[in-house]
Amino acid sequence: MNKIFVDACFRKETPYTPVWMMRQAGRYLPEYMEVRSQAGSFLNLCHNPKLACEVTIQPLDIVGVDAAILFSDILVIPNEMGMKLDFIKGEGPVFEKPIKNDEEVDALLGGEEAADKLTYVYETIKLLKEQLPSDKALIGFTGAPWTLATYMIEGKGTKTYNLCKKMMYSNPQLLHKILKKVTKVVKYYLEKQIQSGVDVVQIFDSWASAIEPSQYDEFSWSYMLEIAHYIKEKYPHIPIIMFPKGVSSFIERGLVYGNFDVFGVDWGTPMAMAKEKLGDKYVLQGNMEPCRLYSKEKTTACVEAIQDIMKGDGHIFNLGHGILPDVPVENAKHFVSECKRVSLKS
Ligand code: CP3
Repeated sequence: MNKIFVDACFRKETPYTPVWMMRQAGRYLPEYMEVRSQAGSFLNLCHNPKLACEVTIQPLDIVGVDAAILFSDILVIPNEMGMKLDFIKGEGPVFEKPIKNDEEVDALLGGEEAADKLTYVYETIKLLKEQLPSDKALIGFTGAPWTLATYMIEGKGTKTYNLCKKMMYSNPQLLHKILKKVTKVVKYYLEKQIQSGVDVVQIFDSWASAIEPSQYDEFSWSYMLEIAHYIKEKYPHIPIIMFPKGVSSFIERGLVYGNFDVFGVDWGTPMAMAKEKLGDKYVLQGNMEPCRLYSKEKTTACVEAIQDIMKGDGHIFNLGHGILPDVPVENAKHFVSECKRVSLKS
């Protein structure tokens, strides 16, 4: 059976514009909270293929999206490279021993050896292939090397990125060494996700905007393009979605083109500008501001405005970043049904 999500990624005609939401499997769903408490912790949930599979499917059944995103986290990658990770309530992810020098980078597990340790992810994908309806796509994902490096260097989420930027401007060789090592692991990791059965992959560069525009190519985009190129050469039938968040100025200036299919537009970038600059080259995904989900009326207005610009041509509906935990489930359903209503071709 055709997966309309995959068709849309390749700009093929679809009956309506498909829709999914970044971070759609998560805390706004009471059903997720129940499974997480059964697992004991978020990381236990990531490590348990049966339960991870269950929460991956929840938003398809409950909210009606057209694609499932594998339930996991970007930070399992550095974790399996050897960095001890904890998720602390109220604080988020914390690495016990952030990277400070060359020796600590050398000590990390690299390449295929690190990617091979993520067996629970590949198991989850295999279970999902058995359980997902054949018309729904499964999205695999990774963090961009830069976004992963921010956590590896700071040890946790940061507002200022002091340590990463100190490294960027005073010891760029060390930052490149980390980025290169992570890039290699990510190539194998995505490849193994594809071999296990994902239909599409997305690269999240959630903290792209922390880099000044003139440095973005060097410290992040070039690595993302290298990963996309590697995957595209070997698996041309797998669509690749790039999501560098907060790079409006970069799009306006002109982006270095690469070998991928879909560009994820964040909520701070005007869709009309993204269409003008990138719409001929890439299918565009996005980009409702996630906080509009607090109001059904504002959601409808935004969905209609995006449809007016994109007109169902080379478009996938999504939020412009992840859904927040306190959004009413009913409003998420409203978003999805409105995307289908406005884009349905009769
Ligand atoms: O539907 C999905 O998207 C589920 C799979 C998924 C999660 N994390 C589950 C998760 C995905 C694709 C991610 C990616 C991720 N993780 C990103 C990139 C996407 C983005 O939103 O920008 C980033 C930066 C992370 C790192 C991370 N993981 C942080 C900063 C946090 C804590 C903050 C937060 O949102 O809670 C997490 C934890 C996390 N990852 C949760 C979930 C469902 C919440 C954990 C819980 O249940 O308490």
